[in-house]
Amino acid sequence: MLTHLKGVLDADELREARVLLARASWGDGRVTAGVQSAQAKNNQQLPQDAEATRALQRIVLGGLNRHAHFFSAALPKRVFPPLFNRYAGATNAFGNHVDNAVRFVPGTQGERVRTDLSCTLFLNEPGDYEGGELAIEDSFDTQRIKLPAGDMLLYPGTRVHRVEPVTRGERLASFFWVESMVRADDARRLLFDMDAHLMALRGSVGEADAAVIGLTGTYHNLLRMWADV
Ligand code: NI
Repeated sequence: MLTHLKGVLDADELREARVLLARASWGDGRVTAGVQSAQAKNNQQLPQDAEATRALQRIVLGGLNRHAHFFSAALPKRVFPPLFNRYAGATNAFGNHVDNAVRFVPGTQGERVRTDLSCTLFLNEPGDYEGGELAIEDSFDTQRIKLPAGDMLLYPGTRVHRVEPVTRGERLASFFWVESMVRADDARRLLFDMDAHLMALRGSVGEADAAVIGLTGTYHNLLRMWADV
């Protein structure tokens, strides 16, 4: 499932993030790539231990925590500390690859995150650059995605994907991974849909309706059955 989360960051946060990104010193994106994907990767990335990275991570994690649908869509167990990249000039693309299944969290005693979900949070507007689509392959077609600044795409870590060459301007984004309490994509999707329908139902018939209470129980019983916490 591909999920588009709107407005993860607001205009003030985006402005603050772009100031930090403009002042930051960028490094080679290949430092966090595996052996195979390093050959396809040609972009710039903020060093994981830089002061600016930590300030930007606080902004992104704050946006995720208050977003109405992030929890319901991702059912997060662990979130990898967000990373930041730039595609521009001669370092402008990332060819087809799959993300490593397990990532080690820097600065911890070997803490691991299984990459059930990949996340791309767009930090500047699509009109600021040409190209730079996130292209995600499926059995029959390829979805090509470019979202407004502040919006985020969640997609399964299992998919082959790439970032098309940026031919004008620069593309700024945050990217990271989520290990979900519900590992199976289809089960997570059922829970997300059910939660959305329940929210709508609560709005129309009220919290105290017997069927709403019953279905809320069913949602939690399914989550209890599938969740690994
Ligand atoms: Ni990737």
